[in-house]
Amino acid sequence: MRHTHQPVGSPRSCGPSKVFPIGLGGMLLSIEGRPDRAQAIATIHAALDAGVALIDSASAYHVGADEVGHNETLIAEALAGWHGDTDQITVVTKAGRVRPGDGRWLTDSSPDHVIRTAEASRKRLGRARIDLFFLHAPDPTVPLVRSLEALRFLVREGVAATVGVSNVTVAELDLARDTLGDALVAVQNEFSPSATQHAAVLRRAEELGLAFLAWRPLGTIGKHADDLTAAFTGVGRAHGVSPQQVALAWLMATSPAVIPIPGARRAATIRDSAAAAALELAPETLRDLDRLTGWAA
Ligand SMILES: NC(=O)c1ccc[n+]([C@@H]2O[C@H](COP(=O)([O-])OP(=O)(O)OC[C@H]3O[C@@H](n4cnc5c(N)ncnc54)[C@H](OP(=O)(O)O)[C@@H]3O)[C@@H](O)[C@H]2O)c1
Repeated sequence: MRHTHQPVGSPRSCGPSKVFPIGLGGMLLSIEGRPDRAQAIATIHAALDAGVALIDSASAYHVGADEVGHNETLIAEALAGWHGDTDQITVVTKAGRVRPGDGRWLTDSSPDHVIRTAEASRKRLGRARIDLFFLHAPDPTVPLVRSLEALRFLVREGVAATVGVSNVTVAELDLARDTLGDALVAVQNEFSPSATQHAAVLRRAEELGLAFLAWRPLGTIGKHADDLTAAFTGVGRAHGVSPQQVALAWLMATSPAVIPIPGARRAATIRDSAAAAALELAPETLRDLDRLTGWAA
């Protein structure tokens, strides 16, 4: 796999916005195992204070069936209580996944559901328009073009400023581009040192000038005592930083389109992750990590 070894650190394009190259994934602040509200707000404030300018949410980031949009309400509350200029913060949200309250994640990307959810999300976020609205996932029971037409409707009606697609193949991304044109500004797929399966989608995103939001960007790094963790820990030790920072720096070096969105339940972890924006890895180190992750295969 080609490796572009882009310099990290400088802002990255996400549609019309230039954002800090690392975002905050909001999911863990609202699903099972979430922290209390004060800690969750403090985590979001720590991210913003560290320079993070993009927060990823979804209507489905909640636990109980009666608390759809928990994460969006939390983010709106955190932004309202932050000292900085929140007009500069891009809030991303999604529709298409649903949680009935028993722990399961189901899919509903029917046009009606997507449109109703977007309107409710916009109200919860308290913004005139949703900055960037994603189809959370294609729905095998709904022709994808119907879900994409719902996104097009939302842009036309001014509910969403821009849109994106998540958990897609190259062919699905191409259909999204054909259906949505320039309103499509981003794709969001899994990408980490332990999950490099969407390389072709990343390359297509680059060709189309889209941002690639890398979800679960840490993968197994620091979570399992495997060879990858050992390698990333070794590089981290040599630079005096955490293995998670090395993972984020490596992801950003794969392409200027990549914006990792690490999750956090604690202020300390997002502060540490944000510091990866300043971590430059040597070309030979990147090549070693490419080989280990399979990126160079
Ligand atoms: N589009 C989709 O279908 C989809 C699917 C999954 C996730 N996502 C998005 O992607 C985001 C990220 O995924 P994720 O949260 O599942 O996984 P992740 O970002 O790979 O990992 C998050 C975990 O790693 C820990 N961590 C983060 N930064 C760290 C650091 N610098 N040092 C040590 N530990 C660190 C956190 O610890 P603490 O909890 O202790 O802070 C947290 O438990 C989600 O929040 C969500 O917004 C999207």
